[in-house]
Parts: sequence; structure tokens; C-alpha cells
Amino acid sequence: MNLAGQTAVITGAASGIGREMARRFGASGMQLMLADVEREPLGEVEAELRGLGYAVASEVVDVREYEQIEALEAATRERFGNVHLLCNNAGVGSGGPVVGSDDLDMWRWTIDINLWGVIYGCKVFLPAMMQHGEPCHVVNTASMAGLAPSALMGPYTISKYGVVALSETLSLEMQMAKSNVGVSVLCPAFVQTGIADSKRNLPTELIADHGAEQPGEQVLRDLVASGISPDEVAEAVHQAVLDDTFWILTHDELNAGIVARAQSIVAGEKPRFVGF
Ligand SMILES: NC(=O)c1ccc[n+]([C@@H]2O[C@H](COP(=O)([O-])OP(=O)(O)OC[C@H]3O[C@@H](n4cnc5c(N)ncnc54)[C@H](O)[C@@H]3O)[C@@H](O)[C@H]2O)c1
Repeated sequence: MNLAGQTAVITGAASGIGREMARRFGASGMQLMLADVEREPLGEVEAELRGLGYAVASEVVDVREYEQIEALEAATRERFGNVHLLCNNAGVGSGGPVVGSDDLDMWRWTIDINLWGVIYGCKVFLPAMMQHGEPCHVVNTASMAGLAPSALMGPYTISKYGVVALSETLSLEMQMAKSNVGVSVLCPAFVQTGIADSKRNLPTELIADHGAEQPGEQVLRDLVASGISPDEVAEAVHQAVLDDTFWILTHDELNAGIVARAQSIVAGEKPRFVGF
């Protein structure tokens, strides 16, 4: 893809990996539609990028709401015309065991954002992207947690395995259709972002029951702080879009864990944590 002058839509663009993607694709001359549920930080990113001379607009969007994604698509078309790059990136981290805690609504919140938000993005944007026929690309943000098992992160892990499955399915279908749309799935391990403080976006009705700090959240915060920088991730995404690379893996030292999982499946072994 030649990116200059083309249009990118990025969800979760107000912070972390999404913000760095916006900076990176803006530097490549793309027109940017930034979407996020956090109004103020979103406005700050938009102002920063406009100050650099980039063509940028933003919409406050909750990716759990299909109609809001439809409105985002309409606003992008009106402002910039055809969409060429869609980054379904908005996400939250939340922990918890499968059994033993009363947190079904936290499971729903996590899966609604991390998986349904990506499904909605693909369903809403892809038909027009395929129809206009110009070179296009979709990047879905999953995680290393979508490629290898971990305990006590049930809703997050499930949502990210789902995003990997969705992306593989989509890639196969785009290849079958000889479509103009390339697909990538981003699977980083820890990256220095705001993910460990995802509960800042908890819906009001969940705050009383789930807003308090839980055991393990500081551990997650420390792991995230030890991660790679989000601009490295954005650089890898940028390169994958240029090269039409499906798997975007950012932590080479963990690739052996992906192989170990595959080997354990065919060896008939029980799941084991392979580390990340
Ligand atoms: N940071 C990591 O270690 C790491 C590792 C693997 C994958 N990821 C994934 O990267 C993606 C980006 O997260 P990040 O690490 O940059 O965290 P972040 O918290 O810095 O950014 C996430 C952004 O998503 C937005 N968001 C949350 N809920 C939303 C909603 N309902 N609708 C729209 N926007 C919403 C937030 O406001 C925030 O701006 C997520 O999908 C996350 O799961 C992160």
C-alpha cells in the first residue's frame, strides 16, 4: 500500500498503542479518523497531530455499540471519503478466574469491547472497503494472550483468542475472494500503556461492585511498565501494513511459547503456561 493521502481509522486512539499508531500513520501522510471512548485525551491527541499539520478528525465512540461504529463510518466517509486502513485496537484488560468470583458483568464488559468491538468494526467498515476496490488493510489488535494460555485472565484471554480466530477467518475469506483488503493481527506481550488502568473506563453501573483495586492489579501494572514502548509496536504495525504481513509478533523471545503450545496439542498434553 502507498499510504500517503489514504485514510486510516483507529479505535482506542487516545492512549497507548492506538495513539502511537495514529502518530506513525500520520507521519506517513495518512488522513486520520481517531476514535475513543475517552473524550479529553482523544481531543489532546487530535490537537497534537493537527499541530503537526496532519489531516485529522476524531469521534467519541464506544466500540460496544454497533450504531456508534456505524456513525463513525459515516463521519469518516463524510470527512475523508474512502477508508483504506482500519485498526480495530480499542481494548481493556481485566482479570479474574473462570470459577469462584461473581463477575459476569466484568466478563461481558471485557468481551464486548475486546471482541465484539472488533467484530463490529469489521462488519461495518469492510463492505465499503471491499467495494471501492483500492488497496486496503485491516489490523485487529489481539495479544500474546490470544496465542498461548494463561490463568486468572479468563475474559481477556478468551476475547483475544477470539480476535485471533476472527482475523484468521477474515484473512482466509479475503484470500478466497481475491479481495483488495489485507489482514493483520497484532499480538504483543507487555507494552508500556494505560492497559493496567483500564477500569478508568468502567461504566458507571459497574463501578460500585468492581471499581476497587483487586489483588493482582499492581502485578499487572508492574509487568506492563516492564514492557516495550508503544512506538516500537506502532512501527511493527506500520511495516506489516506495507508488507501485507498477517502475524505481527513484537516479542521474539516468546515465539518458542507459541511453538510449545502447538506441540503440546499434538502431544496430547494438558495446557501449561509458556510464559509472557
Ligand atoms: N499494553 C499491553 O501490554 C498490551 C499487550 C497486548 C495487547 N494489548 C492490546 O492493545 C490494545 C490497546 O491497548 P493499550 O495497551 O494501548 O491500552 P490503553 O489503555 O493505553 O489504550 C486503550 C484505549 O482503548 C480505549 N477504550 C477502552 N474502552 C473503549 C471503548 N468501549 N470504546 C472505545 N475505546 C475504548 C481507551 O480509552 C484507551 O484510549 C488493546 O486491545 C489491548 O488489549 C495491549
